[in-house]
Amino acid sequence: MHLMVKEISKTLDRIFTLDNISLRLDKGEFVVIIGPSGCGKSTLFNIIAGLMEPDQGTVWIDEQNWTGKAGRISYMQQKDLLLPSRNIVDNVSIPLLLKGMPKAEARRRAESYLPDFGLAGFGHYYPRQLSGGMRQRAALLRTHLQTSDILLLDEPFAALDAISRHSMQLWLKDLQHRYGSSILFITHDIEEALLLADRIYLFSARPARVRLEIDLLKERENGKDISLLKQHILAILEEETNI
Ligand SMILES: Nc1ncnc2c1ncn2[C@@H]1O[C@H](COP(=O)(O)OP(=O)(O)OP(=O)(O)O)[C@@H](O)[C@H]1O
Ligand SMILES: [Mg+2]
Repeated sequence: MHLMVKEISKTLDRIFTLDNISLRLDKGEFVVIIGPSGCGKSTLFNIIAGLMEPDQGTVWIDEQNWTGKAGRISYMQQKDLLLPSRNIVDNVSIPLLLKGMPKAEARRRAESYLPDFGLAGFGHYYPRQLSGGMRQRAALLRTHLQTSDILLLDEPFAALDAISRHSMQLWLKDLQHRYGSSILFITHDIEEALLLADRIYLFSARPARVRLEIDLLKERENGKDISLLKQHILAILEEETNI
């Protein structure tokens, strides 16, 4: 066990949002959360990252209680924006500067990662000069340089067209293998979930509960027809959205 979310509940502005959510992320795993819009997925990420306290429940990382404490996890928030007035190297160096690294060293370090993130030669470009996919990779690099082995990614590819999205998905999977990171990933896209995930948690409508957990690795090993799984997930999501 790497990350464990235990019985988290949260009410926001009198709206009951998270209802007793428990989940786990093992080392090197890719776990995807799918659920109806507004059910509380981003709220759960804010709690896991320690930006928000739960009303009940705990967040455990490597057997330590991290509930309500930030700084342990790399987190890319939904619509995570690059600063328009800074070039890519300066944008992605931010987490290193926050940790007290001198500016020149932070820049050098950031630059050394550009090729792996498909941004070689673009360090001095400004966000407006990059494509949507490149901007997302820069935001992912900034998240990566928060240097945690655990990444929370909240719908990182939602704004991309289908083709760039697919190449980004393959690229992320490859990156994960190279760096051995553990990833918790939110999406609305069932195909994306089925392509990326080792396991999937399907959330109910608000208040979010875990409706279903699917061990895709096991399902694949057992030769399960993935298109049947897709239909099953779709049926549950439709049921949840019709309430
Ligand atoms: N900081 C906040 N204060 C008060 N209410 C909030 C706050 N953040 C979110 N909410 C409310 O909490 C509920 C869950 O929102 P959240 O953003 O977690 O949903 P989500 O599942 O991420 O949705 P989406 O799929 O559309 O991104 C919504 O009703 C939202 O209005
Ligand atoms: Mg959200």
